[in-house]
Amino acid sequence: MITTDIKLAASFLTAGEVVAIPTETVYGLAGNIYNDAALERIFRIKKRPMTNPLIVHIPKLEAIDRIAKDIPEMAWKLGRQFWPGALTMVLPKQSHISGIVSAGKSTVAVRVPDHPVTQELLGMLNFPLAAPSANSSGYISPTTALHVYNDLNEKVPLILDGGPCNKGIESTILGFEDGEPVVYRMGSIPVEAIEKVTGKIRRKVSTSNVPIAPGMFDKHYAPHTPFVITDDIHKTLFSFAVKFEHIGLMIYGELPELTDHKTAIIFQLSLTGSMEEAAQRLYDGMHQLDAMELDLIIALRFPETALGNSLNDRLQRASFQHG
Ligand code: TXA
Ligand code: MG
Repeated sequence: MITTDIKLAASFLTAGEVVAIPTETVYGLAGNIYNDAALERIFRIKKRPMTNPLIVHIPKLEAIDRIAKDIPEMAWKLGRQFWPGALTMVLPKQSHISGIVSAGKSTVAVRVPDHPVTQELLGMLNFPLAAPSANSSGYISPTTALHVYNDLNEKVPLILDGGPCNKGIESTILGFEDGEPVVYRMGSIPVEAIEKVTGKIRRKVSTSNVPIAPGMFDKHYAPHTPFVITDDIHKTLFSFAVKFEHIGLMIYGELPELTDHKTAIIFQLSLTGSMEEAAQRLYDGMHQLDAMELDLIIALRFPETALGNSLNDRLQRASFQHG
């Protein structure tokens, strides 16, 4: 069921149910961090391996030391600067944090979401919410209540609709190793913005660099449709048009001329070429094109600056075979 009733969502969560919740990045699949049955249900609904830990969502920075310990001064500073917001920090966990949340690790990932509905929800609860993105493991992340419904439907008892997500891609994840900040996942807050506070940060992100070739289209997860990235829409379109009939294009800025290939379907991420707008619309574009039974989706690579790097990371993930 999809609802806008925050009190109803609070009562479901208090009863140990799992509820899909809006955040400014993507929708999350939330449960009480102190209820192991609810946590296990999150993993089951997503078909997520129990080895992949969850993010804990807290209402405000001051609540962090009930979740994490030995918090470096830099983490407090970043919390003051970026929370509420799309920065997740990985810190040593307090011993009472369930091993299901942390997937047996000694650390826990924490963030304060910047969404009025979920802020109000967290204010009604006397426990934080563990929430991974509300999609089947490996599939496209949801940025609307309808995306969650279409992917997980009857498996989720309640979806709290807070409208489309404002940022549109997941939070940036930062850890601390030997006292130094390290980026684990590029995301909604560009690393450059964080580096203004921390100085140069080491990147330890896990995207592979192997380009996909036409022969590799046997198995796909995110999206199901074969997905390629290009710097040159024309060239790629004409090389694939020989083999594929129904092609979708995900672009930003100027429209390509398509006179020689009339069946291409265009999803325009941002006519003005705004990276913020493209981020907001990226997953919706993937969902929509993936629902059209196309033979191929071709996406235009973003400029390699700030948010463009995070967007390219998501395009790369969409083009790979992963679980
Ligand atoms: O924007 C977001 O971060 C969204 C919203 C709902 O908050 N959540 C999200 O969750 O993207 P999820 O589960 O899809 O991605 C969380 C990532 C996973 O890659 C997980 O491995 C990593 O965070 N993570 C969680 N705990 C960790 C830990 N203790 N150490 C390292 N990585 C961790
Ligand atoms: Mg996810």
